[in-house]
Amino acid sequence: MKYKDIKKIFLDFFNKKNHQIIDSASLLAKDDPSLMFTNAGMNRFKKYFLGSKNPKYVRITNIQKCLRITGKHNDISDVGRDKYHHTMFEMLGNWSFGDYFKKEAIEWAWELLTKTFKIRKSNIYVTIFSGNINENLEFDKESYKYWKNLINENQIVFFDKKHNFWEMGNTGPCGYSSEIHIDLREKKEKKKIEGKKLINKGHPLVIELWNLVFIEFFRTQNGNLEKLSKSHVDTGMGIERLCMVLQNKKSTYDTDIFISLIKEIENITGKVYGKLEEEDIAIRVLADHIRAIVFAIKDGIIPSNKKSGYIIRKLLRRTIVYYFLDLNLKKSFLYKLVKVVLSEKNNDNSKIKENFISNLIKKEELLFFKNLFKVSKKFYKIISYLKKEGKTIINGKIIFELYDTYGLPFELANLFALKNNFIIDKFSFEKEMLKQKLRSKTKKKNIYV
Ligand code: SER
Repeated sequence: MKYKDIKKIFLDFFNKKNHQIIDSASLLAKDDPSLMFTNAGMNRFKKYFLGSKNPKYVRITNIQKCLRITGKHNDISDVGRDKYHHTMFEMLGNWSFGDYFKKEAIEWAWELLTKTFKIRKSNIYVTIFSGNINENLEFDKESYKYWKNLINENQIVFFDKKHNFWEMGNTGPCGYSSEIHIDLREKKEKKKIEGKKLINKGHPLVIELWNLVFIEFFRTQNGNLEKLSKSHVDTGMGIERLCMVLQNKKSTYDTDIFISLIKEIENITGKVYGKLEEEDIAIRVLADHIRAIVFAIKDGIIPSNKKSGYIIRKLLRRTIVYYFLDLNLKKSFLYKLVKVVLSEKNNDNSKIKENFISNLIKKEELLFFKNLFKVSKKFYKIISYLKKEGKTIINGKIIFELYDTYGLPFELANLFALKNNFIIDKFSFEKEMLKQKLRSKTKKKNIYV
């Protein structure tokens, strides 16, 4: 089953259950000062949850692009290292604004997965909130009741607030969640250890597939929970993972979402995916990041020195550092991948957009590349000196100078350092940053990053 068909089947399923199909919102969280990027499908619906605005439709279904590289939900350190996390992913969702609640959300999720998509029931596990004394929250007996009617009790597992209480950020609408996990291991592996014991343990083939969130509360600035006047449903399932399941793959990068992108990376770099672990990680990072960067630019987030633009610039530079260090590629090429990323969405693509994004990325690559050569030379000089001295820690002041002069962000300097078995003294780096901020405040001018 192809990525495009899966999307359509999902939307049609909920459309038949009287959900209005709507488009994805922008990746830029325009109207929410508590967020930089859209990190969840529910961001744009906050006002409906809080009751400050009435929705046109009380049931909605959509596929929302989400970017998780800042704030409470940040997956960047897992991306590429594992085979199922992404900085940007598309979240399939169904929504109820004060309409249906747990019963329908649970029954329809089960129907879609097991009847429509025909996923084997024995591979599915569901998790339920076990309660929290400090917050005076009971265990989710309602979800338990509905799941018990559908699934073997042995496939129901209880977890605490960390896993089964969903919050968008430090404040905002929130509530209990019930997650659907899937065990994609081979029979032999399943015999050795039950899937149930591997839930939320970071096993690459026992992963969360769908999160059903039941919004009932509002987390206030002072950390209290207030009951909302109505209860709502917010569900989210990453299409990348659903494709992995339905296409019988062991990695999201092996699905038809990523396959042509990875092929193109292989063509350009001359590397072969699946040969060397370090190169594979870099290839996955590239495939993931370029997709996020292209979609972000498409939504108007232009790489710059400020706010969201700077985060995208850092993501771009991170991608460059990966191919520079791990694929040993010393010239710009990311811009050539724009075409492949956009062909995924060929219906809303135009040549002008493609050229604009591609030129912008090329310019960014060239700009950073010039500095990268100088930076890496300086860096290797520093570490060879430190090695001779028998040291393994780099003074943050030196790293600050690289950042200040060549625009090498701390996170990327850290990649350089770790690859050479060094660590950076973050404290002294931050001290320099602070000093610079104070200096620029007095001068009242922008700093170069
Ligand atoms: N809000 C939940 C999530 O982002 C479900 O959509 O995972």
